[in-house]
Amino acid sequence: MLREGGRVDVKRGIVPGTFDPVTSGHLDIIERAAALFDDLVVGVALSPNKGGGPLFTPDERVALIEQATSHLPNVSVRTFDTLLVSFAEEVGASVIVKGLRAMTDFEREFQMAALNWRLDSKVETMFIMAIPEYMYLSSSAVKEIASHGGSVRGLVPDVVCDALSRKLS
Ligand code: PNS
Repeated sequence: MLREGGRVDVKRGIVPGTFDPVTSGHLDIIERAAALFDDLVVGVALSPNKGGGPLFTPDERVALIEQATSHLPNVSVRTFDTLLVSFAEEVGASVIVKGLRAMTDFEREFQMAALNWRLDSKVETMFIMAIPEYMYLSSSAVKEIASHGGSVRGLVPDVVCDALSRKLS
């Protein structure tokens, strides 16, 4: 938090994603980003066309993230269906935080960061490296394992584990 001439500047970041559903890898990035900012907004993109449509509704995805982050007082969760830089402006965030996993993420993330900078150079993109344990973890892999009856315990927060069992039963 910066104080200039009596004005208080809250440093707000956003962690955007589809979060269908939120994984332990996402949660690790959110926790580490929450420690760096006064205030962190998790932006849930509606992404209706992604991979044949998300498994969880926007409300379900928001509720799961809210439950998984209830121990983080400076984190809030919102949906968005606009350009990410417009959403950043709407919520007053100056930094987009992305998790970076294995090399496969790099090209796509590099492209998105460059395009977002082109759209609004006031919004900075920052990357946090995934820890090795979560380097190859993704929401789609979790859904695939769960849909074949495999255990995803530990790969996702417990609330998501239960929600997946209910959704896929
Ligand atoms: O979890 P995902 O699906 O990898 O997240 C991708 C997301 C939602 C961050 C990205 O698709 C996005 O920023 N969507 C908003 C639309 C936008 O701003 N597109 C231009 C950036 S290239």
